[in-house]
Amino acid sequence: MNVLLIGSGGREHALAYKIAESHMLGKLFILPGNPGTAQLGSNVSLLLDDYDGIAKFCSNNDITLVVIGPEKPLVDGMSNYLRTNGIKVFGPNAKAANIEGQKSFAKDLMKKYNVPSAAYKIFEMDEYEQAISYLKESEYPLVLKADGLAAGKGVVICQNFFEAQDALTKVFVGKVFGDAGNQVVIEEFMSGEEATVFAITDGENFFCLPPAQDHKRAGDNDTGRNTGGMGAYSPAPVVTQSMMEEIEEKIIKPVLKGLILEDRKFIGCLYCGLMITDSGIKVVEFNCRFGDPETQAVLPVIEGDFLQLLYSAAEGNLDMDAVKYNGGCAVCVVAASKGYPDSYKKGFEISGLDQTDEGILVFHAGTKNISGKIYTDGGRVLGVTSYLPNSDLRTAKLNAYNTLKRINFNGMYYRSDIADKALAKISS
Ligand code: AMP
Ligand code: GLY
Repeated sequence: MNVLLIGSGGREHALAYKIAESHMLGKLFILPGNPGTAQLGSNVSLLLDDYDGIAKFCSNNDITLVVIGPEKPLVDGMSNYLRTNGIKVFGPNAKAANIEGQKSFAKDLMKKYNVPSAAYKIFEMDEYEQAISYLKESEYPLVLKADGLAAGKGVVICQNFFEAQDALTKVFVGKVFGDAGNQVVIEEFMSGEEATVFAITDGENFFCLPPAQDHKRAGDNDTGRNTGGMGAYSPAPVVTQSMMEEIEEKIIKPVLKGLILEDRKFIGCLYCGLMITDSGIKVVEFNCRFGDPETQAVLPVIEGDFLQLLYSAAEGNLDMDAVKYNGGCAVCVVAASKGYPDSYKKGFEISGLDQTDEGILVFHAGTKNISGKIYTDGGRVLGVTSYLPNSDLRTAKLNAYNTLKRINFNGMYYRSDIADKALAKISS
C-alpha cells in the first residue's frame, strides 16, 4: 500500500523509518517531510491546509493510508476532510482531537468518567477577577494552563500568588496565546515521576507500546525552561507491568469509552502523559498523536509490522498481534540550537552525520538540505537515538553520547543526563 505521512519533525522521521520496514509498504510519501524522511520516501511540497490538494494527491498516487503526525492538522479537522473523501486515516477527527486541543474539555471528560487527574478549576476570559480571588486562596505551587494549543508553551508552574497573577495577566490581558488563552485551567500541582504511554486504538480496542520517559526541561537535572522534550528513553522502568495494567484499566479504557459515549470516537495514537504520584497514577495530559521525542525511543524497541498496526486501527479492526516489544532498549538525545526554547539562530551547517555506527539512528527534526549539505533549521535539530537488542540502558546511553561527540553545528547543545533516572533505579 502507498502511504502519505503528514509532518516534518523527529517524530515523523521515526514514523517513516518504522513504516518503511513494513513488507506491506509500496511507496511512502511525506508531506512536507525533512532531509531525513527524504532518505526513506518522497517528500511532497503541498501546504498543510490545502486539504483539497492533499485529497487529490491521495487519489492521484493511489494512497491507501494517511498517517497524521502533528496535533494541529488533527485539531483543525484534516482527518474529517480526508475521511469524507473516502481516504483511510490514522489520526482522530477534530472532535476527538480536542482531548489535546482543549484542556478544559479533557479535564471535564476525565472528571465525568472517573479518570484520575489533578483537581482543577476553569476560568473564562471575563472572569479575571474571580480567577484572581481563587489564586489568592490557593495553595502553592499550582499550575496554570492556557486552554488551547500553545505549541507546548501554555503551561506555567507557579510557586506563589504573584507568579500566578503574572501568568494569568499575560494570558487574559496580554493575550500571549491569542484565542488559545480565552480560558485557563488552574490545576493542583502533582509531584512524582512522569512517564508517557502511547495507546494505539481503533476507537474501541487499544494496544499499548512500551512506556517511555521524556525530559521536558532544557537543562540537566530538570532545570531551566520547559521545552517540547530534550530526550527520551524506552522502556521506562518507572512503569512496572502492574502499573501498565492499572493505566489500561483506570485510564485508557474509561477515557476511550467516554469518548465514544460523547460521540467523539478516537482513532489513532492516544498519548497518555502520566504522573506516578504517591497516591497513584494520574493523568497530566492527553495528546491526540505520538509524542516527540518519545516516538524516537519507542519505535526502535518494537518488532513486527508497524504499518499493519496503524492500518488496522484506521480500518476499525485493530490487529493486537501486529507488533510486540522486542526486548531491547533505546535512548534518544535531542541536539538543540542555542537559545531554544526561546529564540535561536538557524542555518548552520551540521557535520558528522555520516559517521554513525550500527544501532544508531539520527532522526532529523529541524534540518534543511541545501545542495547536498545539511543545515540547522529549527530549535530541536536532531534526535540521536541509540538502540540495543537487550536491556543494557547504560550502554545505550553511552553509545548515543559517543555519537553526539562526532556531530557538530554552531550553537549545538544537549542534556547530558538522558536516562539517568532509570539508571539510578536499576542500580539501586
Ligand atoms: P502539559 O503540556 O500539560 O503536559 O504540561 C507540560 C509539563 O508541565 C508536564 O509535562 C509537567 O512536567 C508539567 N505539569 C503539567 N501539569 C502539571 C501538574 N498538574 N502538576 C505538576 N506538573 C505539571
Ligand atoms: N514530548 C511531549 C509531547 O510530545 O507532547
